[in-house]
Amino acid sequence: QSGYVTLDSGYKNTGATKSAITFLDGEEGILRYRGYPIEQLAEHSNFMEVAYLLIYGKLPTQQEITDFNSQISRHTLVHEDMRKIFDGFPSSAHPMGILSSLVSALTAFYPESLDPNQSEEEMNLNIKRLIAKISTIAAWSYKNSVGHPVNYPKNKLDYVSNFLHMMFAFPTEDYDINPVVVNALNKLLILHADHEQNCSTSTVRMVGSANASLYSSVSAGICALWGPLHGGANQEVIEMLEEIKADGGNTDKWLAKAKDKNDPFRLMGFGHRVYKNFDPRAKIIKKAADDVLSALGIDDPILEIAKKLEEAALTDPYFVERKLYPNVDFYSGIIYRAIGIPTDMFTVMFAMGRLPGWIAQWKELRENKEPIGRPRQIYVGETERNYTPISERA
Ligand code: SDX
Repeated sequence: QSGYVTLDSGYKNTGATKSAITFLDGEEGILRYRGYPIEQLAEHSNFMEVAYLLIYGKLPTQQEITDFNSQISRHTLVHEDMRKIFDGFPSSAHPMGILSSLVSALTAFYPESLDPNQSEEEMNLNIKRLIAKISTIAAWSYKNSVGHPVNYPKNKLDYVSNFLHMMFAFPTEDYDINPVVVNALNKLLILHADHEQNCSTSTVRMVGSANASLYSSVSAGICALWGPLHGGANQEVIEMLEEIKADGGNTDKWLAKAKDKNDPFRLMGFGHRVYKNFDPRAKIIKKAADDVLSALGIDDPILEIAKKLEEAALTDPYFVERKLYPNVDFYSGIIYRAIGIPTDMFTVMFAMGRLPGWIAQWKELRENKEPIGRPRQIYVGETERNYTPISERA
């Protein structure tokens, strides 16, 4: 009714929509994409197949995934004029700022994507363009930040291998694609692919509900994901672990800081709005971190610090009472680091992984003809008062 609203800050108890894409149960630690448990998808599938599943609602046949992959490969090049936008950024620019700007800039190169009445075929083309180009834009933003020449995509490579090539090859030498790395990155991207109505996905839906284009909606989602409490946490975790290592690995001291209400420090990578049990993704990523580091022969001391923190927190009453467990961001950075991805690219990796979920949710919103998002508020400001001339103001 008008005038009657229930305040629900942070929408902790509000269902914003109906969705058939992702199911998660925070108490049981269950996560499924279109009904498939993520444990099975992480084990048997690959990122492009999971992207297809999320967006189109079913696992593709061989012909469907072959067509999907070849159409995406065809769109990995970005318009050469985009180089001018890249070159306009200082090398100190954070890659997430570049990514959100360039994804929004796609509307300038593909103005037909702005048409809210675009055909199904046109929408699917815009979707494939975005999946293809985000990996090129991501790799180029990294090369831009380190002052290295960019690499053009090699379309005979699969999606993840192509990204690794663009990230790490040099005109002077090729990058040897290591299957262990490709497998680990596929797993990580699958595990980030969707997570129902999290902050960035809700942002994509809110912007899309105004009939804004896919590219504008995803650009807004990238900005929300950038927040340190959300996707930005994976970068914060590594910086936190590095700080603890530099401080002599004194995990007890840092756990005490995390519990101290007068100390703004939080144990990054811990806690979750929905999971009040172990984040099922964190379990898989923790094992993958062990596997990748041993396969690559890397002994990273911050992995031991992470495990020490986890063990201590799982028995500490402060964390146990508040049901704070490691979340998806706690171990992911250790794998990215082992692959050679720099810390300020970690949240870009999260965005690349989450893109199919954002697309699927934006598509579902439109197919369900959902109304424009427009919540109400509880007004706590001044009651009516009259304007006073400046000469009479204190
Ligand atoms: C992601 O929503 C999603 O699904 C997100 C995500 C996805 O896939 O899209 O899963 C990805 O964003 C994972 C979360 C990454 N963020 C972090 O790791 C940052 C650290 N975590 C927190 O800031 C926090 O746990 C949140 C933001 C994740 C959840 O915040 P909530 O649900 O609003 O919980 P809260 O801040 O109200 O905390 C409840 C209590 C508070 O203590 P009290 O006031 O009750 O005494 O727990 C405490 C908090 O102080 N607390 C922490 C803590 N997280 C919560 N104390 C220390 N360290 C922490 N990490």
